[in-house]
Amino acid sequence: MAISTIFTDALVFVWDFFLTLTNIITPNLKAGHVVPSGHAGAAGNWPEYVPPGENDSRSACPMLNAMANHGILPHDGKNISFKLMNETVRSTYNFAPSFCYFVPNYIAGILKKDYSKDTFDLAEISVHNGIEHDASLTREDIFHEPDQGKPHVPFIEELLGSASGKDSKAEGSVLLTSDDLARYSAKRRTEAKARNPEFSLSKFHKTFGSSNSATLLRIFGGRVSDLRPFLIEERIPEGWEPSVQSRFGLTIAAFNFTVLPLESSTEKYVKQLTKESSNIQETSRVENYGATGVTETNIGSTNA
Ligand SMILES: *[C@@H]1O[C@H](CO)[C@@H](O)[C@H](O)[C@H]1NC(C)=O
Ligand SMILES: *[C@@H]1O[C@H](CO)[C@@H](O)[C@H](O)[C@H]1NC(C)=O
Ligand SMILES: *[C@@H]1O[C@H](CO)[C@@H](O)[C@H](O)[C@H]1NC(C)=O
Ligand SMILES: *[C@@H]1O[C@H](CO)[C@@H](O)[C@H](O)[C@H]1NC(C)=O
Repeated sequence: MAISTIFTDALVFVWDFFLTLTNIITPNLKAGHVVPSGHAGAAGNWPEYVPPGENDSRSACPMLNAMANHGILPHDGKNISFKLMNETVRSTYNFAPSFCYFVPNYIAGILKKDYSKDTFDLAEISVHNGIEHDASLTREDIFHEPDQGKPHVPFIEELLGSASGKDSKAEGSVLLTSDDLARYSAKRRTEAKARNPEFSLSKFHKTFGSSNSATLLRIFGGRVSDLRPFLIEERIPEGWEPSVQSRFGLTIAAFNFTVLPLESSTEKYVKQLTKESSNIQETSRVENYGATGVTETNIGSTNA
């Protein structure tokens, strides 16, 4: 990493720290007023949803795709400036300005582009092991599915089906919890590793994967009724607003309090699954049931 990058990151973290403190001492935004007036989605009025057509560019990231599907980013997903991404992510999802600068700037670095001058197409940011990574909760690994712009519905249904939280504000509605996400991520990591001969997942990408999961908790409050259209159709439900009400949005530092515990509990479940599957392997070897004994189904059943 270049010295200038480290320097920029350090500055962003200092800025982020001050925003975190400011959020603590300033009053929260009022419900119904999280998206600033004059921006798409203010008062829950989202621009019309139009599913992507065959030539539209889409990425591995549901948040950016949903913005393009509603025309908050260009609907064709092409020729997007990093600055536009910064501004629209800020107003749509209430991430802090430090976050909204850090992520596009990071992506610009991966694509070897200039943050202030260049533009990108959504599909470009799906470059493998940039922000796209194996064992995603919403995409098949690139080894099995080269088009990372499309959600893989069975994974999403399985994830949402595992939701175990109860919503105290709305009777009968279910919430995805941090533990649900950790368990399902662990399952994906274990199965993807077994099925994908080119599987790779660095420490960085594990943490990045957990930050995507953490987004579902912090920005969406884990609400399954909102997450279903958001993850499957990449559509923002009518009337929706971000769950984060902090005046200056979700900072990187505040986000870390959700991401880091989620990642460590995911790794704890991965170890557990690995141990269980090697026990199964051992048993079936002893009982002479065949060479492997481990199938996708019995890995899944250990995760109930
Ligand atoms: C998509 O692009 C192809 C090739 O340029 C063109 O033939 C086709 O009509 C386009 N489809 C749409 C829906 O615009
Ligand atoms: C891309 O967008 C810029 C403005 O941001 C515009 O000047 C340029 O003509 C566009 N390029 C294409 C190929 O549409
Ligand atoms: C990011 O967007 C904000 C508006 O939310 C704008 O004030 C700021 O100048 C932008 N920063 C950069 C580096 O593009
Ligand atoms: C958040 O956690 C990551 C991963 O441990 C760390 O690199 C980063 O410095 C932390 N950022 C802040 C602002 O706390």
